Amino acid sequence: MGNRGLFITFEGPDGSGKTTQINKLAAVLKKEETPFILTREPGGTAISDKVRAIILNPKYSELTSKTEILLYAASRSQHVDEKIRPALESGKIVLCDRFIDASIAYQGYGLGQPVDRVRSINRFASGGLTPDRTYLIDISPEAGRRRMIVRGGRSGEGLKNAARGLDRIERRHLAYHRRVREGFLTLYRENKQRIVLINGEREEDAVFQCILQDFRRFFNKHMTYDMKG
Ligand code: TMP
Repeated sequence: MGNRGLFITFEGPDGSGKTTQINKLAAVLKKEETPFILTREPGGTAISDKVRAIILNPKYSELTSKTEILLYAASRSQHVDEKIRPALESGKIVLCDRFIDASIAYQGYGLGQPVDRVRSINRFASGGLTPDRTYLIDISPEAGRRRMIVRGGRSGEGLKNAARGLDRIERRHLAYHRRVREGFLTLYRENKQRIVLINGEREEDAVFQCILQDFRRFFNKHMTYDMKG
């Protein structure tokens, strides 16, 4: 990996707690003065955030699966060129909340679109960029949904009312989210060198210790130069 930074992604079904975990890792890096950026998908740049607003807006029920794949890929392409690659080239660690694995799990396995096509569109969009390490925080769709409802302060309402605060993707049926989860687990089985599977149904701190331990080992193995120099 030379003097290029490390590209670290966090993935998982909705409600897995990955955003909390990525923020915790960012706080450690900040404290230790390790150069990094924290970013997310869809989004991460002004243009990509506009695309995010379209993709997640529940009012666009007419949005087709093909358009959905392409919008995620468009958002990603801008994000990679404008933000991720320059940060990696300057030696920074890039912490990214979701990347191509999410498109494969949500649009490929979830929507039943051809996984190879989703992969090749995204290869084009990202210029072939692959994460160096991915933390896949696994949770059942039932537990994930409960968490999202509690997080949104909607636990006192019925499930139907509670769904009102969810975005266009989160609102999909549990069967869809089961396929997404299975998709992520398939990706894990195919990429065990890169993807670390974490049980996200445990205590927040226990989950974080697992991530931090692996991250430190990975960092020490791959970052051979003095990042503060
Ligand atoms: P978030 O919950 O991580 O902010 O992501 C927003 C939603 O977008 C989430 O339901 C997962 C979904 N998503 C996809 O369906 N495909 C993708 O490529 C990405 C990045 C996210």
